[in-house]
Amino acid sequence: MLPYQMRTFDGYLDAYRRSMEDPDAFWADVAGHFNWHRKWDFVSRSDFDNAQFSWFGGAMLNITENCLDRHLEDKGNDIALCWEPNDPAKAVRKLSYRELHREVCRAAEMLRWQGICKGDRVCIYMGMVPELVIAMLACARIGAIHSVIFGGFSAQSIADRVEDAGARHLICCDGAFRGAKEIALKDIVDDALVRCPAVANVIVFRHTGCPVRMLEGRDHWWHEVMLNVDDQEALQHPAESVDSEDPLFILYTSGSTGKPKGVVHTCGGYMVYTAYSFANVFQYQPGQIHFCTADIGWVTGHSYIVYGPLCIGATSLMFEGVPTWPDAGRFWHVVDRHRVDILYTAPTAIRSLMSFGEGPLEGKDLSSLKVIGSVGEPINEEAWQWYHDQVGKGRCPVVDTWWQTETGGILISTLAGVTPQKPSFATLPLPGIFPVLLNERGQEVTALHENGYLCMAASWPGIIRTTYGNHERCRAAYFNQFPGYYFTGDGAYRDENGYYRITGRIDDVLNVSGHRLGTAEIENAINEHPEIVESAVVGFPHDIKGQGIYAYVVHTPDIAQPDALRNEINETIARFIGPFARADKIQFVSGLPKTRSGKIMRRILRKIAEGETQQMGDVTTLLDPGVVEEIALNRL
Ligand code: WTA
Repeated sequence: MLPYQMRTFDGYLDAYRRSMEDPDAFWADVAGHFNWHRKWDFVSRSDFDNAQFSWFGGAMLNITENCLDRHLEDKGNDIALCWEPNDPAKAVRKLSYRELHREVCRAAEMLRWQGICKGDRVCIYMGMVPELVIAMLACARIGAIHSVIFGGFSAQSIADRVEDAGARHLICCDGAFRGAKEIALKDIVDDALVRCPAVANVIVFRHTGCPVRMLEGRDHWWHEVMLNVDDQEALQHPAESVDSEDPLFILYTSGSTGKPKGVVHTCGGYMVYTAYSFANVFQYQPGQIHFCTADIGWVTGHSYIVYGPLCIGATSLMFEGVPTWPDAGRFWHVVDRHRVDILYTAPTAIRSLMSFGEGPLEGKDLSSLKVIGSVGEPINEEAWQWYHDQVGKGRCPVVDTWWQTETGGILISTLAGVTPQKPSFATLPLPGIFPVLLNERGQEVTALHENGYLCMAASWPGIIRTTYGNHERCRAAYFNQFPGYYFTGDGAYRDENGYYRITGRIDDVLNVSGHRLGTAEIENAINEHPEIVESAVVGFPHDIKGQGIYAYVVHTPDIAQPDALRNEINETIARFIGPFARADKIQFVSGLPKTRSGKIMRRILRKIAEGETQQMGDVTTLLDPGVVEEIALNRL
């Protein structure tokens, strides 16, 4: 058992009280269980007005020593990473802590050979292969800052991220397998890099064996540059000692305005928070196998496939494929094959698998499961119940974990088997986390069952430190709305037990199959089409995806074939963002409902998309109220 694991509800209450009475002492206690090269001068400093936060100030460390080296003596032969390939007929790969340590040391040495230094940004676009984890940890080993780009993003999205991060190095694969598809990742990278002349170095890991073009001088095969590495030297080369507040990674995520933001997390605080939250929420016990189905291109994969589990010496299972290929029993097959103890997935996957009925579960032994978890969006009661009954067989606690890219780790969740659960409630904050609900005027909402804006009244070790290259954007997005608080962008209410129920985003961020997308981002992409005058995008309830994308589009006169234009619009979105951002519904309209000052009244468009065509509320401020009627009449 880990010293900072709370095993009973009383233990939780006691820890919560301690964290409230003396937060610094509480966190110093937790942080004391990690390896530091130099201890901190102070535990925490927060300045909400300027969005300046530091944790374990002055401490020096290397996170990979905490993820790898410190387990070698006791757990060197335990499996650190277990890789399940896309194709169930292909070989599983297992890397013990000793093997993963060795591979990370070798890759770190290779990166040094490639001229990559502390503080350099390295973009990674690899799909779900073990070498992705090795590449991330190798960056962290030498103090370079990784920025992983989800494999579904388009060339344009890669270019935007590479440029924003000022990256001169990129690591990719030749291709990736995704269900029945093979995706030519390197080709997409080539397209992206036409726009990024600053990238001088591309390292390509061979995975699918598909043909690729290698640009002389810029592109190098991973296996070839690895030949430079002397294993002994690599193992002896000390890990870079970095400051607790040095950046560990940048991860881009969508906000309500403009381009995605590069959320920056730093080494010390992120390490402590991911390990602490992992150990407590999932109640991980030594020897258990943890299967998080997320893609490492999103924060869930960073925190709960890589850093959290490895920090506490767990066995982390990573899965290359998709839940429905070769059939809808794939997850259950993986659980059965590896005797998985903890399954952590998303409501969209649960709803999608639920739609296939119980058939795919038949013949699969799920008796190894102890804890099942959910993340990414509010889980509806029906999906919760199915997950609980059919997957957990009524005996596994369900942890509904609420958090965000910006929070680094889980903030509100039941602790498995410790906190009494309640379907579709994320329940209680972890010790050290102080949520409040505020109304528009910034006053606390104390009434039960009344919705408020979910905010945090104090900082925690995993809080966002900045948005890369533009600190003001970070301050304005999260710390401006309610002075003295971190603003999450989510709405929530509380029940009589103090349990939180998250009701979803209250800003212009959509959550489509757990993918976070800004409406402005999608509109900008649609507007790139030469025949589009303007557009407005809103979300609508979708049975499987949670939210679907509804686009209202004004096109130039004389369009002969609206269906062809619809396809072209979706191709444009795929080109500028990625195929996962395609619109489910595209309605052509003659105009958008705008106020006299030119602002689009999204409230109305949202109502129509949701199926409400009668009660529109006040439309008197509209420039042309007639347009609303037309839009409602032609609703798709
Ligand atoms: C939503 C994913 C309800 C929420 C870790 C948040 C949730 C956004 C839950 C962050 C949950 C995540 N219940 N809503 N358990 N978990 N969300 O940055 O709207 O990709 O703001 O991080 O997902 O998405 P992100």
